[in-house]
Amino acid sequence: MVARSSSVLIFLFVFLAISSAFPKNKDKYKPCKHLVLFFHDIIYNGQNAANATSAIVAAPQGSNLTILAPNFHFGNIAVFDDPITLDNNLHSKPIGRAQGMYIYDTKNTFTSWLGFSFSLNSTDYQGTINFIGADPIMIKYRDISVVGGTGDFFMHRGVATIDTDSYEGEVYFRLKVDIKFYECW
Ligand SMILES: *[C@@H]1O[C@H](CO)[C@@H](O)[C@H](O)[C@H]1NC(C)=O
Ligand SMILES: *[C@@H]1O[C@H](CO)[C@@H](O)[C@H](O)[C@H]1NC(C)=O
Ligand SMILES: *[C@@H]1O[C@H](CO)[C@@H](O)[C@H](O)[C@H]1NC(C)=O
Repeated sequence: MVARSSSVLIFLFVFLAISSAFPKNKDKYKPCKHLVLFFHDIIYNGQNAANATSAIVAAPQGSNLTILAPNFHFGNIAVFDDPITLDNNLHSKPIGRAQGMYIYDTKNTFTSWLGFSFSLNSTDYQGTINFIGADPIMIKYRDISVVGGTGDFFMHRGVATIDTDSYEGEVYFRLKVDIKFYECW
């Protein structure tokens, strides 16, 4: 009898240990922090050097660094230094910079690969958030990984849902970034 109740206890203990190590999805997928920010990209087009915030730095053979290449821009790499704002207005006071690159890496549709950081410097947020992932531009909502952070975002991880909030030809686009952290410290 004593042996039996202790084995029940051991079972219960093991069960609790395992279930706390693998929380149910419902709990696991509740964000610990949520942030919505916008960033604005003005692509250099040969005439807007003063205002441009991104530059094509690589182009496939036969194309140049002024105009994105034909065929879904495949082979282009652009580097950007874009203002981040709290709302969708390009002229709002920036709270930081979105800096990094996008690579057009798909031959049969518009898809880019993003690798960039948000460097935030405002009264509410100080620190960086680092993003990586495939960006199938033609789809309304795309998820990319939030792989880490520093400062206020020390060791944070999560997923960011991005959508192209505005698009003006090949010269301006604005991305809305809905950041959900699932790991906060
Ligand atoms: C650059 O931005 C300023 C301020 O928004 C604007 O007045 C000007 O027309 C822009 N210049 C170009 C070349 O887009
Ligand atoms: C770049 O390529 C575009 C499209 O082919 C062309 O119209 C433009 O003149 C080229 N610019 C330069 C500086 O070569
Ligand atoms: C952040 O903003 C403050 C105040 O504008 C400025 O003094 C400081 O140099 C900025 N820090 C960075 C890392 O840009």
